[in-house]
Amino acid sequence: GKLPGVTHPQPNQPQSSPFVRACRGEPVPYTPIWFMRQAGRSLPEYKRVREGIAMLDSCTRPELVTEITLQPLRRYDVDAAILYSDIVVPLRAVGVDVDIKPGIGPVVERPIRAMSDVARLRPLEPADVPFIGEAVKSLVGELGDKPLIGFAGGPFTLASYLVEGGPSKNHDRTKALMYGEPELWHALMSRLTDIAIGFLQAQIEAGASAVQLFDSWVGVVSPEDYRQSILPHTRRIFSSLAAFGVPRIHFGVGTGELLGLLGEAGADVVGVDWRIPLDEAARRAGGGKTVQGNLDPSVLLAGWDVVEARARAILDHAKGLPGHVFNLGHGVLPETDPDVLARLTDLVHEVTAR
Ligand code: CP3
Repeated sequence: GKLPGVTHPQPNQPQSSPFVRACRGEPVPYTPIWFMRQAGRSLPEYKRVREGIAMLDSCTRPELVTEITLQPLRRYDVDAAILYSDIVVPLRAVGVDVDIKPGIGPVVERPIRAMSDVARLRPLEPADVPFIGEAVKSLVGELGDKPLIGFAGGPFTLASYLVEGGPSKNHDRTKALMYGEPELWHALMSRLTDIAIGFLQAQIEAGASAVQLFDSWVGVVSPEDYRQSILPHTRRIFSSLAAFGVPRIHFGVGTGELLGLLGEAGADVVGVDWRIPLDEAARRAGGGKTVQGNLDPSVLLAGWDVVEARARAILDHAKGLPGHVFNLGHGVLPETDPDVLARLTDLVHEVTAR
């Protein structure tokens, strides 16, 4: 059989694609690029196929997931696809009463406030998400040598939705629980860590070529609190995936002061937002890690000349770094013109061709 961790990269395989090579810090023919939230509401063809279908229901239909994941690749020459799903899909799969309300985001009927609530979070079994394996296999067949990125929500970000009961600006209740009830906090984080590992494993085993942990809201904690209350859990996520040998990406927003710790958690690639220059981010992430980022998504609304100048500045900052994957500093905004993303993709490829 095949041993996890022992890969024999072939030409024209996702494992030797520019994206995977850049994640590993290997030489690349050009800087690879993809966009967080490249699928979804910025595309009219997405809105058409989603008509009359609830977000979380759409995620359980492999044909629809395959179609929506491929939509951006028909428009942009991006170097990777990202599975169309959501960070709350595995929570719903283990019985959490979560729904995604249009224009709002994830809403949880009965928020988690006590140990008895944590006990409701059972581990995720592959049989809970059969549609994920099916969708990933179908996509891997369609994508050929183009890599598919799988993903999961980071434990802090999932905890925030569960504790607040919905989207929140400052995550105050979540942090209060973290500061005030460490035992309950670690129990909750430990279960969310198991769920993230189960969800990522299902995607890797079905053929995903890389994975990204979206701990989007973790930038609201201090380095000391990250080290004590979150790092043990994110470290466990990345170490349990090490044997698979696929690149692991760790992303959060507003994490300038946490980049060293995000690096310590063990991913191969650290995602960076626009608040910090990429060269400084790479220095902070340490250990020769590849960085991914970091164009402000709002720049895409400012006109092409601004987009081009800002993209070139990022590529300048990235010169001489161990590895760079071009991306936005956060997801594509719904009002973004897809033609700008198409043009930006070509620009990054042309400017960096070597
Ligand atoms: O191209 C892709 O990235 C598509 C896959 C994807 C979705 N959600 C689909 C989605 C991914 C990677 C996510 C991750 C996700 N979901 C994150 C982490 C990334 C980030 O933005 O920080 C978070 C925090 C969520 C939770 C979530 N889901 C929110 C806050 C919302 C509503 C607001 C929003 O930005 O859309 C969702 C809904 C959601 N997830 C939609 C899509 C396409 C829109 C739902 C719709 O079309 O009705």
